[in-house]
Amino acid sequence: MSNDEYPTENPAVVTAGLPYANGDLHIGHLRSYTAADALNRALNAIGQQSAYVCGSDMHGTPVAVNSWQQGVDPEEFALEWHEQYEETFPKFDVEFDNYGHTHDETNTELTREIVCTLEDEGYIYEKTIEVAWDPEEDQALPDRYVEGTCPYCGEQARGDECDEGCGRHLEPGEIEDPVSTLTGNPAEYRKREHKFFEVSALADYLTEFLDDLEGTDNAQNQPRQWIEEGLQDWCITRDLDWGIDYPGDEAEADNLVLYVWVDAPIEYVASTKQYSERVGANTYDWEAVWKDGQGGVSASDASGGSPDERREAGGEIIHVIGRDIIQHHTIFWPTMLQVAGYNAPRAVCATGFITINGKGLSTSRNRAIWAREYLDEGLHPDLLRYYLTTNGGLQQDIDFSWEKFADRVNGELVDTLGNFLYRGLLFAHRNYGGRPDVGVSEEVEDRIEEALEEFNEAVNEYDVRGIGTAPVDLARFGNEYIQRNEPWNLVNDDPDAAAQVIRDCVQLAKAIAVLAEPVLPGKAEAIWEQLAEDGSVHDAALSAALDAPPESFDEPTELFAKIEDDRVNELDAKLADRIESTASDDEEDANEGTAAADADEGTDTADDGAVPDMEPIVEDRISFEEFQELDLRVGRILSAEPIEGADELVRLEVDIGVETRQIVAGLQQLHDVDALPDTKVIVVANLEKAELFGEESNGMVLAAGEQADLLTTHEDAVPGTRVR
Ligand code: 2FM
Ligand code: ZN
Repeated sequence: MSNDEYPTENPAVVTAGLPYANGDLHIGHLRSYTAADALNRALNAIGQQSAYVCGSDMHGTPVAVNSWQQGVDPEEFALEWHEQYEETFPKFDVEFDNYGHTHDETNTELTREIVCTLEDEGYIYEKTIEVAWDPEEDQALPDRYVEGTCPYCGEQARGDECDEGCGRHLEPGEIEDPVSTLTGNPAEYRKREHKFFEVSALADYLTEFLDDLEGTDNAQNQPRQWIEEGLQDWCITRDLDWGIDYPGDEAEADNLVLYVWVDAPIEYVASTKQYSERVGANTYDWEAVWKDGQGGVSASDASGGSPDERREAGGEIIHVIGRDIIQHHTIFWPTMLQVAGYNAPRAVCATGFITINGKGLSTSRNRAIWAREYLDEGLHPDLLRYYLTTNGGLQQDIDFSWEKFADRVNGELVDTLGNFLYRGLLFAHRNYGGRPDVGVSEEVEDRIEEALEEFNEAVNEYDVRGIGTAPVDLARFGNEYIQRNEPWNLVNDDPDAAAQVIRDCVQLAKAIAVLAEPVLPGKAEAIWEQLAEDGSVHDAALSAALDAPPESFDEPTELFAKIEDDRVNELDAKLADRIESTASDDEEDANEGTAAADADEGTDTADDGAVPDMEPIVEDRISFEEFQELDLRVGRILSAEPIEGADELVRLEVDIGVETRQIVAGLQQLHDVDALPDTKVIVVANLEKAELFGEESNGMVLAAGEQADLLTTHEDAVPGTRVR
């Protein structure tokens, strides 16, 4: 990779985290896939050669447990879901250049080859460890076959991940008070030989890798903390009969398969390889992306070697993932790549979670918006693509409600984008039969150029929201422009001036189509057709935004329809009913004590992007007077610097209107400290002073959740304004 601005000379690959082939797709999944799809389309639009690849994650206990519950062979089970995903993604215009799966030959071979290289390079060793065991079933309990307490945060956790607490990956044997999800019995521990990958020897490499890593802040900051806390080696085998066998006879005899997190990310490479083989290496060369185009670098450089030599020649590898799998993509995966002689990722973009009406998305409780159900409602996929990609920055959590969805669709797509296009193009068609025969005005040309520049910047910053809002911002300008110039009044009095305004509107419409393509591909193509443009907007470069549109086109139709309140209520009611009936079914099952209900509780399916339930509201109420005792003020951060020796703390100077305060806050690992100045925050101004690491902290900055999402204001409240 290079850290040059996009477009670079190197080919790029955009990947999205592989969905486990074990259940229906929902908006938690779609958030990552639509963001990555938009990013890939936008990269191509600015002239970056880029492919988008993914595949189904077929192995591991997420598939084994669910197929066992249904009494189906895991391969058959996973393939069925795989086929369904292959059908569903295109319906959302999520257009992979290749969609493979981890059980196919390409991935199986590549995985074995890479593991053999890790062995040859001396990074694999064997160790006897204690693994959870079900005495009744007399079988090992890897990963989702066991539940218990997270040793780090004390929350309920699965065998290999603290999915309801701190989100950490857990190694076999780490979980406390283990219980078998097969039988509900307390698990025993038994000694077994397993293979370990020596991640701890690669801490220096990882630190260097993270220094260059682009993408979201969370993907850079969290791993730094894990490295500082000390890296553990990684157990890469499991006692399981579903997965890719560990290469070598002795292990095969022992029934050891590779841990699913070894072969899953290798599918990113395998899928790129399949794409390359299909279109030919002259069109897209997977080795140029993953292996420098020179057949890789000697793996003997792995432990101490700098990744720098690889960068210039290698491709631009961009991973879009959910934030629950940052550790796998910024610790395990880059170390595997490094030792195996592959290129390092250039960017990891980790999306936030999704809540539904303020509550955690839960597949087992049916509190989700399912992909198929959304389509069955007859809603256009672009609406959801727009909502999911532009609701906040990539790393922010999104709360979905039909009401919020309708508000954004109605306000931004119907009233702003659709309205401008319809009235501009209708006026053009009726009065001029299409594009008036004059050049574009300087004002509008400059505005379009500005929009293109902003779009380019957004792509370079992996700012998918910026990519998605670019066409709406331009349409907003268009509405203001048409309103300001009133062409309907000019047509008779000053026909030249009227023609100029409409000519400008037609150009704006074309620019909007080009800018809308990444996030609204279906609607962008419809605008393209309305303008009677040749070819497809999907093949248009960004620069086409300034090329003259055709001279004549037909009467346009409206592109977006308002979602009325009644429809919102109907969608809301359906969602509520569905959640309620699932809850009562569960209750019945629990009363009957069926094994299925018990098993299902412990093995939530396909819950990417899901959050655990919210903390319950504290029961004791406070009076309004008590609330008023809090002196909450709007503040603006003037400066921010890390406090030496304190890993998490930063010293902030915050302007709170009446004075400037020094406040110490635990933001170092979770935010880009250099980007904090100028951020508006909410400060508890009458909190007792405290001393932290020898620094006075005079107040507190409010932040939400584990990621310390800073509370701010959305309008222009000035520093010092009281928050009530
Ligand atoms: O967490 C998950 O849903 C995994 N199936 C993601 C795998 S991404 C990768 F690295 F392959
Ligand atoms: Zn935990």
